[in-house]
Amino acid sequence: LSKIIVAIDGYSGCGKSTTAKLVATQLGYTYIDTGAMYRAVTLYFLRNCIDLIDEKAIQEALASLSIMFQFNPEKGCNETYLNGVNVEDEIRKLEVANAVPEVSAIPQVRKAMVTQQQKLGQDRGVVMDGRDIGTHVFPQAELKIFMTADPVIRAERRQTELLAKGEQVDLREIAMNLEKRDHMDTTRPESPLHPAPDARFLDTSRMTIEGQVEWVVQQSYQIM
Ligand code: C5P
Repeated sequence: LSKIIVAIDGYSGCGKSTTAKLVATQLGYTYIDTGAMYRAVTLYFLRNCIDLIDEKAIQEALASLSIMFQFNPEKGCNETYLNGVNVEDEIRKLEVANAVPEVSAIPQVRKAMVTQQQKLGQDRGVVMDGRDIGTHVFPQAELKIFMTADPVIRAERRQTELLAKGEQVDLREIAMNLEKRDHMDTTRPESPLHPAPDARFLDTSRMTIEGQVEWVVQQSYQIM
């Protein structure tokens, strides 16, 4: 079997990362959560009060931050580190989710993240999820999936996820965040979210996680 790149793009809250993580485990591949990278940059920008129109400050900030993933054997998954400190919980908070679309729309930020993502996937054997993986980061990926789901179901799923982490958030607030992010992600000038012409669509509204994973794994084996 040859090693491939599985690129999973789609709207916020469709279950991309949950699916991608499990697919990577089944294939014995590395999972790369590119959303976590944009979230970590956003956290750094928030903490250091970086002015989003100050190109020099942005460049300096990007030069002084490092993002890494490290496997947590207890949880059985990768966690995100910003300058050596575990920020996995922090970057999932709604405060960061609200600020991330503005930060991820900045061309300098995207350039820096895309370079790092391309390095992480250069040996193939990766499942990478995000918004521009099949269109921009790896347009030559062997398998491209575009995930969609009903907006109400997406908001409910995200609420359950946040609740499990102890964050109680109103369903309407979550729905608004998802809608805002989708709008900004699809309309930004720099590599906006859209399906690659050769992407395979997966609507997860009425699918279980197991069903989604099985579908992606099957598609992967067909082209390996
Ligand atoms: O995937 P996740 O919901 O964690 O992504 C958070 C945000 O990061 C997205 O709403 C989007 O603004 C940005 N993002 C991006 N490009 C990617 C991955 C995420 O712009 N490849």
